[in-house]
Amino acid sequence: MLCRLIQSHYMNLPYSYLYYAVAGLTLFIPGSLLNAAPDLKSVAAITTHFFENHCYECHDEDSNKGDLNLYELSLKLDSQQQAQQWAQIFKKIESGEMPPKKKKRPTKTDKKQLLSALV
Ligand code: HEC
Repeated sequence: MLCRLIQSHYMNLPYSYLYYAVAGLTLFIPGSLLNAAPDLKSVAAITTHFFENHCYECHDEDSNKGDLNLYELSLKLDSQQQAQQWAQIFKKIESGEMPPKKKKRPTKTDKKQLLSALV
C-alpha cells in the first residue's frame, strides 16, 4: 500500500530510482520492528506458560488470592483497569514479590522473557 503510493508519486519524476531507495527502506523497517516487539499470540503463550508454572495455583477462580483471578485477564488493553493490572503484575514479578518467597523461584531466563514480552 505504502509502496504503491510512493511509486505513483515518484514514477512521474525523472529520479525514479528514488522510489527503489524508499521502497527498500519501507520494506526493511517493518521487518525489524516485528523482531523487536513479540506479537500478541506469542505474548499470550509466554504469559500463560509463566502463570501456569508460578501463579495460577493461587490466582485462579477458586483461590483468587488478593482478589486476583489471572484467567480473567485479557491482553487487550481496552480499559484503564486492565492496563493497571498488567502494570501491577509486572511490578510484582520484577520486584520478586510474586510468586511469594516460599514458592519455587522462576528462572532468570523465564523471568526476563516474561518481563520483556510485557514491556
Ligand atoms: C502461594 C500463593 C501465591 C502465588 C503462587 C502467587 N501469588 Fe500473587 N498473591 C498471593 C496473595 C496471598 C496475595 C494477596 C496479598 C498480597 O498482596 O501479598 C497476592 C497478591 C497479588 C497481586 C496484588 C493483587 C491486588 O490487586 O492487590 C498481584 C498483582 C499478584 N499477586 C500477582 C501474582 C503473580 C503474577 C504471580 C505469579 C508470578 C503470583 N501472584 C503468584 C498469593 C500468591
